[in-house]
Amino acid sequence: MKKYDPMVTPWQIKEYDFPREGAPTEKLQFLLRYAILAPSSHNTQPWKFSVGEDEIQVLVDRTRWLKVADPDQRELYISVGCALENLLIAAEHFGYGHQVAYLPEPANEELAATAKFMPHGEPSPFREPALFEAISSRQTNRKIYEERPIPQSDLQHLQNRCVEEGIWLHMTDDIEIKRKADELIILGDAIQFSDPTFREELGYWIGQGLLGSPWLMSKMAQLTVTYKNISKGQAKKDSEVLMSAPVLAALSSEVNNRESQVKVGQVFERVCLAATILGIRVHPLSQILEIPELKVEVSKLIPKSDVFPQHTFRLGYAEQEKGHTPRRQLDEVLV
Ligand SMILES: Cc1cc2nc3c(=O)[nH]c(=O)nc-3n(C[C@H](O)[C@H](O)[C@H](O)COP(=O)(O)O)c2cc1C
Repeated sequence: MKKYDPMVTPWQIKEYDFPREGAPTEKLQFLLRYAILAPSSHNTQPWKFSVGEDEIQVLVDRTRWLKVADPDQRELYISVGCALENLLIAAEHFGYGHQVAYLPEPANEELAATAKFMPHGEPSPFREPALFEAISSRQTNRKIYEERPIPQSDLQHLQNRCVEEGIWLHMTDDIEIKRKADELIILGDAIQFSDPTFREELGYWIGQGLLGSPWLMSKMAQLTVTYKNISKGQAKKDSEVLMSAPVLAALSSEVNNRESQVKVGQVFERVCLAATILGIRVHPLSQILEIPELKVEVSKLIPKSDVFPQHTFRLGYAEQEKGHTPRRQLDEVLV
């Protein structure tokens, strides 16, 4: 397989590098260069891929699982779902049809999905072509958002990206719900940052430079997070950013299983990309789902009974973040 120049980051992907004359596996491998640009919790990139002649197995990499923050592996599967969605969008862009089987081998605990690809496929109506362009410009935006409301037509457009059966997207600008979510965020920060194992885990991933800071700053941030309880400062910051957002959103599922979590990841990534095109920023807020007592409270804020909250985030307008967070090179995630 082609070796990549370490000075060229995975974000500098060029669609004209697609190996049109290459072997089928080479072409499918190229699609994965879009999959690895997906968001993931703490930027752990907890995915691996096995490429065949006409299919790709999408696997979870449990060596990169956040055992403390994500004990039930919900975020692990959502992250992998985000990568799967980028893969399918890229496949459609390059003319493939596809068929996805979720958890196709129950005994294989690593295998989240198998995507089969056929040439000359029809693009899906809910994956508009522009989503492909947005893959390499999407970013998580943690800034304070402007007061500007999001037009109803744009919210409807985002809503229409959620087509998976049994998966629900709720978006709200209700100030009372925002206040309740804010209370939960403050509580969540207090609980998590008083736990040294949580701080150590977060510190480890920050220290890897994966959240986008230069090496020295990452190491200093790792020490601060690991050894100081910064919950008050963090809660104040998180409260400010949450309250600034014109819209809060929750993705939930009728069934609380791995397949739903992968699908939630797919919808989340689709929403992120559609939002990117509209100039709307997105920022996940996971702490309220990482603590079981708070998760129960979150489900009470969702206007549909009998669903399981899977992912929460805010939407709004802000200046772009400075740069992209780093990604591992493709050859590191191929098995
Ligand atoms: C399942 C999931 C949970 C996340 N939770 C949070 C979170 O609680 N707080 C946060 O600031 N970012 C969160 N993120 C965003 C990631 O930190 C971000 O995707 C990663 O650092 C890569 O950066 P990028 O999205 O700008 O490419 C989450 C992302 C995913 C997919």
